[in-house]
Formats: sequence, C-alpha cells, structure tokens
Amino acid sequence: MRETIHQILEEARGAIGEVKSAADLEALRVQLQGKKGSLTALLRGMGRLPAEERPAFGALINSARETIAEMIELRGMALRKAERVLRLEAERLDVTEPRPQPALGAAHPISMVLGDMVDIFVGLGFEVVEGPEVELDTYSFELLNLPKNHPARDAQDTFYIEDNIVLRPHTSPVQARTMLSRKPPIRVICPGRCFRADEADATHSPNFHQIEGLLIDKNITMADLKGTLDAFARGLYGEGIATRFRPSFFPFTEPSAEVDMTCVACRGKGCRVCKGTGWIEVLGCGMVNPKVFELCGVDASVYTGFAFGIGLERTAMMKYGINDMRALYEGDLRFLTQFR
Ligand code: PHE
Repeated sequence: MRETIHQILEEARGAIGEVKSAADLEALRVQLQGKKGSLTALLRGMGRLPAEERPAFGALINSARETIAEMIELRGMALRKAERVLRLEAERLDVTEPRPQPALGAAHPISMVLGDMVDIFVGLGFEVVEGPEVELDTYSFELLNLPKNHPARDAQDTFYIEDNIVLRPHTSPVQARTMLSRKPPIRVICPGRCFRADEADATHSPNFHQIEGLLIDKNITMADLKGTLDAFARGLYGEGIATRFRPSFFPFTEPSAEVDMTCVACRGKGCRVCKGTGWIEVLGCGMVNPKVFELCGVDASVYTGFAFGIGLERTAMMKYGINDMRALYEGDLRFLTQFR
C-alpha cells in the first residue's frame, strides 16, 4: 500500500514538473484530485481493509493529498511568475522611441496678417474689441448716419436675415456699439468677419474680413489719422511704404478718404499688381461725422475722432503676393501651408 502511494506521489511530481502553463496545471489538478484520481480510487477501496488498519491508511492518503496540493501550489506560483515576466516583456513600451511626426498645420494667411496688424495697433495704444456678425440694422446703418431708404445703403449689398437683422456688411457697427458703451478717450480696433452679396472672383468674396479702427479724444485731427495709418503701413511692410489720401464719401465720416499705399510688389515703380500706378487702394477712413457722435451720445463740441476700415484679404494678398482671393477660401493645404 505504501508502495502504491509512493508511486502515485512520484508520478504526480513528474507530471506537475512537466506542466508548461497555468491552464495545463489546472487540468492536471482536476485529474489528480478529482473523483477519477488514483488517490480517490484508493480511498474508495479502503472499505475492503480490516477496520483497525483504516485510520492509519486514511491518514497516509490524506498526507499524500496534501503533498500533491502543495506541489501544485508551488508549481502554480512558478508558472504565474514566468507568465508575468513574459507578458511584461511583450507589453513593454519604449516611450523614447521616435515616432513619425504628425503633419503640422499652418496659420491661415488671414490669421497671420491679422496677428501682425493687431500687434502694430496694440503697440500704438489701441485695444481690441469685437462685435456680433449677425447684427441689428440699427448699429449697422442707422446709428452710422445711414437712415432707412438712404441711397448710400445701396452701396452695401447687404444680406438681410429679417427686417432689422443683417449679416454685418462691415465692421463699422462695432464703432457705434463702442461709442454707446464707453466714454472717450476711445482707442479701439475691431477685427472681424463681414458679409456682402458679392459674386466671388479674384478680388471679391461674399465673406471677407475687416479691421475697424476708432479713435476719439480732444483735439484729434486728420493729421493724427494720417500719422497712424503711415505708422501702420511701415509697421506691416517696412520703411519706404507711404500712404496717399484721396477724397471719398462715407456717411459716417466727414471728411472721408480712400487711402492708397505704395505698391508692395514693385515698391512704387509701377507693375502689373498696381496696374502701373505704383499705388494700391487699401482702406477707407475719415473724421467721425458729428452726426454719428450725436446719434451715439458723444459730445461733438468737446471731442473729435477718426475711423478707418481695412480689408484683411487685400492686405494678406499684398503681403504674401497672392493674386486670387478665392485661393484664401478653397482650403487647399498645398497653398495654405506655404506661408508658414
Ligand atoms: N465701413 C467702410 C467700408 O466697409 C470703411 C470705413 C470704415 C470707412 C470707417 C470710414 C470709416 O467700406
């Protein structure tokens, strides 16, 4: 009997030692300790033994079971440890491994030129303010001295949402909002998106950008306006760029001017871009009309001021030598990333 048990233990030791995985070990455990195991068979045969031998025999079998359980436990620990080492090895991540670079984006030419312009005007003491793109007729026109049925309204092909609500055709409504909400001295620029019912072509887009400027204080004259715009032109394009004022008309400024800048492409010599004139039209401006002051609650007997509106598209096109405005809106990355 002892012989048999010894043999069973030796076989179990051999089998357990050969098992290569936790799963196989579990299968072997069921086989050794289960109902069909050889120790179980021995236990069942105990009934045939004389009664006085049974306790000693039972104790022997139980100790054999414990030995087997211990061997399984030890082998299990060893297997789990080995499997863990393998798994960690397989899962190892080299955080220093160089990866292929994700494609880098680029700022849009409009954003870049806007950033440059904001830098220049902030350097001159202006503050950036913004207004809504969907705007009331009141701010877009009426407070700017453009009453309903005024013929000058035709100059702006405005998109109407409702009778009194428009997609703003210029950034000038922010002027009216600022005068109504602040006390002079006022020095603001208002960049933003504008909309007009224009056909898209090389120089027009129904959706474009302006930067509005408004300065109100005591003793402000047209010379201040000219000096500010000269500083802007030089700041953006460098020395040797001048401005030229031509008389014009806007209902919200009086007097009004259209401003040309030395053509950046030929530096004034005359080329295809400026049609041989050496000048490029860049913005509209003027001294704030006293009627606008009156409508917006500024005392015209104390204050004077100037305002201007610059098109960002045209400025970006000049700065980067772009000859078709549509390229700014087509979203072609080959085009857009070259100005980075
Ligand atoms: N709002 C005018 C336009 O869109 C530009 C402008 C702004 C002119 C401020 C004078 C003063 O054409």
